Amino acid sequence: MNEKESIGVVGTGWVGLVTATCFAELGHPVVAVDIDAEKVEALRRGDVPIHEPKIDELLAGNAERLTFTTELDDALRATRLLFVCVDTPPTYSGDADLSRVRAVVEGLGDDGKHALVMKSTVPAGTGAAIRRDLPDIAYVSCPEFLKEGSAIDDFMHPDRVVIGADPGDEWAADAVADIYESLGGEMVRTDVASAEMIKLASNAFLATKISFINEIANVSEEVGADVTEVARGMGLDQRIGHSFLRAGLGYGGSCFPKDVSALKQLAGNTGYHFQLLTAVIEVNELQKRRVLKKLEKHLGSLAGRKIALLGLAFKPDTDDMREASSLVLASRLKGEGASVRAYDPVAERAARELLPDVEFCASAEEALDGAHAAVLVTEWPEFGKLDWAALRERMATPLVVDGRNFLDPDAVRAAGLTYEGIGRGNGAAAQGES
Ligand SMILES: NC(=O)c1ccc[n+]([C@@H]2O[C@H](COP(=O)([O-])OP(=O)(O)OC[C@H]3O[C@@H](n4cnc5c(N)ncnc54)[C@H](O)[C@@H]3O)[C@@H](O)[C@H]2O)c1
Repeated sequence: MNEKESIGVVGTGWVGLVTATCFAELGHPVVAVDIDAEKVEALRRGDVPIHEPKIDELLAGNAERLTFTTELDDALRATRLLFVCVDTPPTYSGDADLSRVRAVVEGLGDDGKHALVMKSTVPAGTGAAIRRDLPDIAYVSCPEFLKEGSAIDDFMHPDRVVIGADPGDEWAADAVADIYESLGGEMVRTDVASAEMIKLASNAFLATKISFINEIANVSEEVGADVTEVARGMGLDQRIGHSFLRAGLGYGGSCFPKDVSALKQLAGNTGYHFQLLTAVIEVNELQKRRVLKKLEKHLGSLAGRKIALLGLAFKPDTDDMREASSLVLASRLKGEGASVRAYDPVAERAARELLPDVEFCASAEEALDGAHAAVLVTEWPEFGKLDWAALRERMATPLVVDGRNFLDPDAVRAAGLTYEGIGRGNGAAAQGES
């Protein structure tokens, strides 16, 4: 008999699938539930519906411990701990949409035998509301901090594990702590509301850091500084650190935009105006559009121009297109009358539906054929190895806008192209520009 606790996981998206797979890797029998029958079928066959490094191997290696089902009851029968990993997208008001969470709660019933462990990102107060509806069920807030692209490593080597529970639910919090103990992250045991706020505040802080460095980039352009140098010098201060201090086209993805907005609305609903987050959101929106001005600086009107987007996913090593900067950029370019071609190593399938007017190409080289400019949108490693001298020959105009400050400006210029980064246009590094 297996001695490890059986675990139920509800939702098999990025968080749920990684959670289920990693718990199985730790030796736990896992029953993973999703309402998407096609996804469940695919997972039963061993087909992984997302692009995430290491997950295919880990899933295949733990197949005998993983059961995929569409029936919540299968999980309820097998386990006492139910990890909820359903999506909590934004509503039109910017609040988090908790309808999927509520659907799970309704399916659960108040049987007094189960604990609901919330990994989905939810507004502070959600746990208290669920506890009011289901007083006999135990409730633990255990927010997830993984990053797409390194989700397995993040899950298996957490910086910290936050476990929030209120009096009476200690047994469930202890059970969750036992499961996570072997992973070695610092354990933060706290109350439910504080655990919920830790997650929202962490994402809001990281988004703020990104918008901050993007504003520094925009000022750097005006005063002749290079933001990559500024960030390097700032980041060496241990109080600041290097991470999330990279200027670019702004943040996207399934978490930051919605979580920042949800925290802003949560504060607003209590009567508090969270001014800082209003600015963070606005800076991020404007940042995605600044590329247009850079293109116009060199090309004049964009009407009739062919613009090639290198990368579409919101970040490398994922095919997630949720809130990707490429969506706004492509639509703005279209709005200006440009034609848009694009290449992404893995996100094409997810992007096709969202970008019906974009011409998809099989390689960066093909995308750049006849292009008046290349815009690097996602810093896929393969874009660091492009032969710009050869690419220049294919392009109608030798212009590169590096939306992630990922390329080597000197190498691109040495190949005979004009290079525009973010926040480094007028700095010393640009003096040799043609
Ligand atoms: N993606 C990330 O990087 C990340 C990181 C940390 C936290 N989070 C949070 O985790 C949660 C899940 O995010 P995700 O990116 O994995 O979402 P996702 O959209 O990729 O997956 C959600 C899954 O839940 C399923 N689902 C919806 N309702 C269901 C129900 N009633 N019963 C069973 N399954 C149901 C959906 O079919 C889908 O497969 C969100 O709250 C998100 O904010 C996400």
